[in-house]
Amino acid sequence: METREDLLVVDRLKTQFFTYGGVVEALDEVSFEIRLGEIFGLVGESGCGKSVTATSILGLVAKPGKIVSGRVLLDGENLVEKSEQEMNRVRGSRIAMIFQDPTSSLNPLFRIGYQVAEPYIYHQRRPKRQALKDATEILAKTGLPDAVEKSRNYPHELSGGMRQRAMIAMSLTCEPDLLIADEPTTNLDVTIGRQILDLVKDLQREFGASVLWITHDMAVVAQMCDRVGVMYAGTIVEKTDVRTLFRNAKHPYTERLLRAIPSAVKSADKLEEIPGSVPQLIHPPTGCRFHPRCDHVMEICSRVKPVELEVEPGHMVACHLFGGEKEAT
Ligand SMILES: Nc1ncnc2c1ncn2[C@@H]1O[C@H](COP(=O)(O)OP(=O)(O)O)[C@@H](O)[C@H]1O
Ligand code: SF4
Ligand SMILES: [Mg+2]
Repeated sequence: METREDLLVVDRLKTQFFTYGGVVEALDEVSFEIRLGEIFGLVGESGCGKSVTATSILGLVAKPGKIVSGRVLLDGENLVEKSEQEMNRVRGSRIAMIFQDPTSSLNPLFRIGYQVAEPYIYHQRRPKRQALKDATEILAKTGLPDAVEKSRNYPHELSGGMRQRAMIAMSLTCEPDLLIADEPTTNLDVTIGRQILDLVKDLQREFGASVLWITHDMAVVAQMCDRVGVMYAGTIVEKTDVRTLFRNAKHPYTERLLRAIPSAVKSADKLEEIPGSVPQLIHPPTGCRFHPRCDHVMEICSRVKPVELEVEPGHMVACHLFGGEKEAT
């Protein structure tokens, strides 16, 4: 469903990897919308297709992968149809990305300040001195201590948390409409990770960008996001606003993810593990891809793929427990 306030619409996106071992069906008709100024969370266990969703939006699907069908609409323009050159422009100006590993986007040979200033110099044609000054300012905004001094350092001279802040500063200099954050706190210790979450939230408010926040952690969803899509084995199984998800989760997989959140009253050893593991997607399970691990599995589940159904306003669930499925006759 597209509404006027949607910035990004991902529509039945199908991305596959054509490997020697077979076709990896990584995304199977993934659909969601990100509204203007919201933080949309994409949550699921490792291997569910979260990163492939991000690279598909950015036009950076690794070989031997490609988008085989579906659309990615940014303000109504289909990014899937754009040329590499056009996508380069989109990535430099409208969509920015922060990754789990900041070293992948920082060049070890250049000083931090210069790298942050680059978009100002080359895209916005600011004089170099001014650009460097502006870069230091934005570095300071990310909470980098002694930003003036640190901007003269090379990436290896900074800690992991500082490098992550530098990458966030880089992503903000192009003033993106959409920021994609793919588990950027995974490699950081808990305290620094929490600071980075707060930082992105503050900056998102200040700059008014929309954010796609990718995580395997429901607690992070609770802290960060406005709305959320729960992903399992290349499909979105549930989609709603975060309050509704925590109050009234419907999909058996979402329920399991929620039960796996550590809380003050549960000790770590009582934390529930989700039995089984995310399947390989070369021969994904038929019908509902969750059926081999589901406590509520029914006869229809292995045969028919459940369609998305609106169980309450704005709350979509794809599961046969909630009906809506017509069997093919
Ligand atoms: N380059 C690739 N070649 C083959 N399969 C891939 C490649 N990249 C990802 N996949 C497969 O796509 C699926 C989704 O992966 P990914 O998006 O990285 O998961 P997540 O980010 O949720 O952990 C997995 O089954 C993974 O093995
Ligand atoms: S469709 Fe069936 S297998 Fe899939 S989550 Fe629902 S009940 Fe479980
Ligand atoms: Mg990933």
